[in-house]
Amino acid sequence: MTDKLHAADTPPAADEPPPAEEPPPAEELRLPDELYVPNELRVPDALRVLCRLDDLADGESKGFEGAAGSFVGLFAVRQGDQVHVYANACPHIGTPLDWVPGRFLSADRSRIICATHGAEFRIADGLCLRGPCRGDVLDAVQVQVNDGVIYVSTTAGV
Ligand code: FES
Repeated sequence: MTDKLHAADTPPAADEPPPAEEPPPAEELRLPDELYVPNELRVPDALRVLCRLDDLADGESKGFEGAAGSFVGLFAVRQGDQVHVYANACPHIGTPLDWVPGRFLSADRSRIICATHGAEFRIADGLCLRGPCRGDVLDAVQVQVNDGVIYVSTTAGV
């Protein structure tokens, strides 16, 4: 009996793993304070409706107002089920791109055209392929299309 008590008081040998601690119950687990984000802050951005997908004909472009308080509008180009949205500001000197309000595409609808100096941009990613800002890109806006409605961030274009 005395030997058993004595053995329990001695520290484990260096090559023995330390005794496992009992984990806390699940209801007591919580993130460290520095990693905790309240629910209302977990959505990166609120969304707003841009328009219905049906309101933007396939192969066409359309202009929209920018975010509240912004001087920069947006424009969208639809290619089938895909919708590309950009801030309506040319990377060359920042002017709006549309040559007629709401018209952003070349005659064959293969490229976005800037009305000011004629820069041409690829529709899929906004890269300038020709013109004074060749190699620059349009400011792309993230888009969600759900149930036939096009959504963008409420801060898009700011
Ligand atoms: S402002 Fe668009 S090409 Fe110059």
